Amino acid sequence: MNTPHLRFTDIDPSIEERVDTLLKQMTLEEKVGQLVQINLGWREDTDDWVREGRVGSILSLTDTQEINRLQRIAVEESRLGIPLLIGNDVIHGYRTVFPIPLAESCTWEPALLERASRVAADEAAASGTDWIFAPMVDICRDPRWGRIAEGAGEDPFLGSAMAQARIRGFQAADLTSERRIVACPKHYVAYGAAEAGKDYNTVDISERTLRDVYLPPFKAAFDAGAGTVMSAFNELNGIPASANAFTLRTILREEWGFPGVVLSDFDAIGELIHHGFAEDHKTATRKSILAGVDVDMMGNAFPFHLAALVREGQTPENLVEHAVRRVLRLKFMLGLFEAPYTDESLADQITLTGENRALALEVCRKSMVLLKNEGKILPLSNSIETLAVIGPLADNHHEPLGCWTLQGRDEDVESVLDGLQAVLPENITLLHVPGCEIEGGDVDFDRAVSAALAADVVVMVLGESLMMSGEAHSRAHLDLPGRQQELLEAVVATGKPVVAVLMAGRPLAIPWMAEHVAAMLMAWHGGIRTGRAVADLLFGNAVPSGKLTASFPRSEGQIPVYYAHKSTGRPIDIRGIIQFDRAHKSQYLDESSDPLFPFGFGLSYTTFAYSDLAVETPEIGLDDTLVVSAKITNTGERTGDEIVQCYVRDLCGSVTRPVKELKGFKKVTLTPGESQIVHFEIPARTLGFHGLTMDYVVEPGEFWVWIGANAREGLKGAFTVIA
Ligand code: NOJ
Repeated sequence: MNTPHLRFTDIDPSIEERVDTLLKQMTLEEKVGQLVQINLGWREDTDDWVREGRVGSILSLTDTQEINRLQRIAVEESRLGIPLLIGNDVIHGYRTVFPIPLAESCTWEPALLERASRVAADEAAASGTDWIFAPMVDICRDPRWGRIAEGAGEDPFLGSAMAQARIRGFQAADLTSERRIVACPKHYVAYGAAEAGKDYNTVDISERTLRDVYLPPFKAAFDAGAGTVMSAFNELNGIPASANAFTLRTILREEWGFPGVVLSDFDAIGELIHHGFAEDHKTATRKSILAGVDVDMMGNAFPFHLAALVREGQTPENLVEHAVRRVLRLKFMLGLFEAPYTDESLADQITLTGENRALALEVCRKSMVLLKNEGKILPLSNSIETLAVIGPLADNHHEPLGCWTLQGRDEDVESVLDGLQAVLPENITLLHVPGCEIEGGDVDFDRAVSAALAADVVVMVLGESLMMSGEAHSRAHLDLPGRQQELLEAVVATGKPVVAVLMAGRPLAIPWMAEHVAAMLMAWHGGIRTGRAVADLLFGNAVPSGKLTASFPRSEGQIPVYYAHKSTGRPIDIRGIIQFDRAHKSQYLDESSDPLFPFGFGLSYTTFAYSDLAVETPEIGLDDTLVVSAKITNTGERTGDEIVQCYVRDLCGSVTRPVKELKGFKKVTLTPGESQIVHFEIPARTLGFHGLTMDYVVEPGEFWVWIGANAREGLKGAFTVIA
């Protein structure tokens, strides 16, 4: 689906004229004001600041009446009547909370995410939001980083597709009224490469990795018309991202021609002092505006120093004017001058509607990943007599919301128990025991074990609280928190078949569970419809189809473990040089090199066979398109969706290339026995990388190609790119 959406990257000359006229009337202080974003609690004299034109935008404000009140001051009481922008974090839904973005990406269905983003933006817009601080498009290969929950996982190709879908969805909101919404891909850039997965930590990566892995989703977002971008907290190779002229000016403005607004992350300018990159706020202000930041989120620096810097000749006024021009252009494009106020009756009419809740359920079901299903224990049979539901997350109405939900309410959430009660056949008796708390606290293993012993099947709902992922919530240990592992072991020891439903904001390292339970369903933090989606999947009212977008490690020591790694000179799959007692290869003494579950992995209630790989273009020129196909057959007994993936490997280059790179994916629905030939058309121009001179190059030579069900398996062929 391609909804009509506004491309904020297209410049309209009539708007430029209006911007010119306004700019000419502005004092230096009023210009600086447009570059200041504050949050409401920050200053007691906010009203005065708005009245004096010292604020251009407000963040984290969702009360429509208050938004309108402040807007009235800006429009009716300030000298030039320039409306305010209202920016909010709408990360996975507004009041209709969808699964966390990492889960949403496991649908591998950009068109679905486009619809979900549209719903989120419509609900946010109805409450007065103009500016959405999303999507987070940071690639992340370290599940210790709590913010992996907010992104689309480890892969730049998939991440780019998801980024574009979200931009289209967000920026399509309210197209029928005079008002629009603008999106803000973040965090520019490489924030997800924080050392050791610790939030805000140092990022030190090569320029090539930056360009090949971390930049593409941003570029994709701008190609889809994203109108703003948020500069990150982290330093990148010694220069903080919010004062980094190389990424903000050279790449963003000069190479990509991005005309939109650059907003710093919250106090990221002030934090240049802690980075040891500026002695004081004045220097921080100068360094960040010179590097290319337009707007100071939180307003700790610009409002107090920018005008003085201009007067003292330390910052050219035209730099400030360019930034103001971008902000004013955005305000005109959003329709704020024509329609500054929000209809206070609108939100109730369009929020949390049946349609929105139904879409949330669809996304939720499709985001869950079936990781194991031994003996086809799932779907659960309707003829079981007693079902025990055990675990601290089984009847929880809060944690499924996931991190970052401004408007999410516990009362909207269906717990797993609610969901099961809604779908359970009458003949099945349900026993529920929490067994323990999520982290620490009381345990009740005896009752849990008794319930398990009395049941035919046990469903255990285990995992993380919502506060264990997200910003500033990194973990060094990725096992089950608290005493949940003990609870799991006690219940498994009963010998009853155990189905684990796992809720978390990240991949977990759970090899014991993977070995000992009969089935595992990764439910993530699925938002308000979590319970119903889990119940539908457990009882087969829906067939699992999600596939992982981030590898699950076996242990923390493997991290980073991701499919698109390099070969090394001593890869694990060669015989290797034997020295001392063993082959000297790139491997661990005490751990496998394989992830527990690879990127792209996910099971179904049916099975799919891959056959008849055909490389239809064994030789392609640089302007040609690789055409490759395979036959996918539903060999099971249920209709199901299969996410078919296409990977390539450039065997030899002027710089080394990953062992596999995703270049295409398609979701097909097949009835039992049905086959479909799935084609991939991959332009040779997309097979490149940043070469020796750091230019993007596609190098002639031999490639392998796979069509498969995940990054670990697939039918393999070969093709050649010729000059
Ligand atoms: C800090 C976070 O890093 C960013 O993602 C968010 O948009 C801002 N705070 C505003 O809440």
